[in-house]
Amino acid sequence: MEMRVGRSFRAYSPGIGPLAAIAAVAAIVLTARPALAQMPGEQPNLRPRITQEMVRSGLKHKDVRAAGHRIFATPFNVLDGLGDGPMNPSDTESPGGRPTLGANGMFLRMNGLDSQTCLECHSILSTATIPARFAVGGAGNVSDSAFPGVVDPDINDSENNGFAAISGRMINPPFSFGSGGVELLAKEMTQVLQALAAQAQTNPGAPVALEAKGVAFGSIVFANGSLDTSGVEGVDDDLVVRPFGRKGCCATIRAFDVDAMQFHHGIQPVEVVGEGVDADGDGVENELLVGELSALHVFQTSLEPPQQRGRAPRGAELFGLIGCAECHVPELRSEGRLLTLSFPEVHEDPSANVYYTIDLSRPPARFAKVGRGVSVPLFADLKRHDMGPGLEEHTGDALDPFYQTARLWGVADTAPYLHDGRAATLSEAILWHGGEAQASRDLFAGMPDEERTDLLTFLRTLRTPRRPNRDLR
Ligand code: HEC
Ligand code: HEC
Repeated sequence: MEMRVGRSFRAYSPGIGPLAAIAAVAAIVLTARPALAQMPGEQPNLRPRITQEMVRSGLKHKDVRAAGHRIFATPFNVLDGLGDGPMNPSDTESPGGRPTLGANGMFLRMNGLDSQTCLECHSILSTATIPARFAVGGAGNVSDSAFPGVVDPDINDSENNGFAAISGRMINPPFSFGSGGVELLAKEMTQVLQALAAQAQTNPGAPVALEAKGVAFGSIVFANGSLDTSGVEGVDDDLVVRPFGRKGCCATIRAFDVDAMQFHHGIQPVEVVGEGVDADGDGVENELLVGELSALHVFQTSLEPPQQRGRAPRGAELFGLIGCAECHVPELRSEGRLLTLSFPEVHEDPSANVYYTIDLSRPPARFAKVGRGVSVPLFADLKRHDMGPGLEEHTGDALDPFYQTARLWGVADTAPYLHDGRAATLSEAILWHGGEAQASRDLFAGMPDEERTDLLTFLRTLRTPRRPNRDLR
């Protein structure tokens, strides 16, 4: 049995604590920000607008990608709907009514609102060169980290023990390169797991082993009129594989993006608040159209995948021998080549409501064909693992040591490492492993220097794509 991360605001929600006390104090509403009507001559930055109809039939694939590329890089302003509305004393943590930073009236880096554009945090192509190289859809540095759920940072160490306690998460942004392949694998695995659950239901009392693409997710049994999920491992009890987010919050890039827009920028998607509705009371309706999230989804899932450059056979062999490859599975293969995008999404049934199809074997993604599918060299198993107390973090009231296996493709270019960017080197990242990875970590720690160097040399062959988005500029 495993805890589901988050509730309504899944990607980031820390779970809302008791708020009754706050309501009493919150009579004053500061209105320091200039009203929209006071800004003649200013324009929103999100232009032209993209509708779902345009994505489905009006635009060529390249134009949809270009629209998504532009939306990803658009710095929203208040005319676009940047920001939350007036503070909502009954819920000061969810987007829509969060407090702002005093007189600044806008950004509070802790717990969002934290930025104007996705690009601010997702812009790094490689930190392996000096200076770094940049690309839209890339990773982020430590200063780009997000702090969901932090309500009580103890920066002056009130317990005087050398640790500044923090009550929420601190997470470092990963890149979106190759995410079409990841989303396709996850959808196929979800379909396999759902079918196994259906099989269990037709044979009450007989446990069914849950396995998809060679990855084991425990077992399930139908007993006393319901599915017993207490044997399920590494995936949510609804058997939907959620590869995105470091905790594995989201089945698709779209599901993640819907939350990211609200959390980081206070931009409210129509598919969340409804058409013609100004839910945060900031004076702007239709802040992000269904078609605009679709274009963003198409752009991100079409991005070029990371690639291996050079060979390091000795290190690759050691990677398998000491158990790294048990979680960081070098390659998973898809059954098909077509990634389908749906709206509305039904995560238990990825075949529902399909409006768009991307052939992942074609440019720009161009995954290698194998059989009728493609090879996705992701170095992960799309499963959550217990990484031990050293890496656990606060999610709501609990300390949670579970993470999706980090995909190691591109790892040579994406220092710093781990969910909060604490590891500036690959060696530190490996030495922080505990829990289910303890044995493998200890084998690494005990290897002769020469073998450790071989292993690192191998990891340094795993590179981000050379020139992502090159046809969009
Ligand atoms: C303030 C920095 C910041 C901004 C701005 C930001 N992100 Fe992120 N992004 C993150 C962090 C941190 C994570 C890791 C989240 C987690 O682990 O749950 C992340 C993760 C993601 C992921 C999941 C990637 C994966 O492979 O797991 C997607 C997709 C994503 N962001 C899209 C966006 C989009 C779209 C926007 C703009 C609406 C955006 N982000 C804006 C920091 C940011
Ligand atoms: C039990 C599963 C498991 C095993 C075994 C394992 N890892 Fe990991 N690895 C993970 C998870 C989960 C993370 C993400 C942890 C986090 O973000 O805090 C991770 C993160 C990493 C990272 C950081 C990647 C990044 O982008 O931040 C590196 C590097 C890494 N592992 C290498 C290795 C090597 C080398 C081995 C073998 C010695 C190994 N791992 C064994 C599960 C595993």
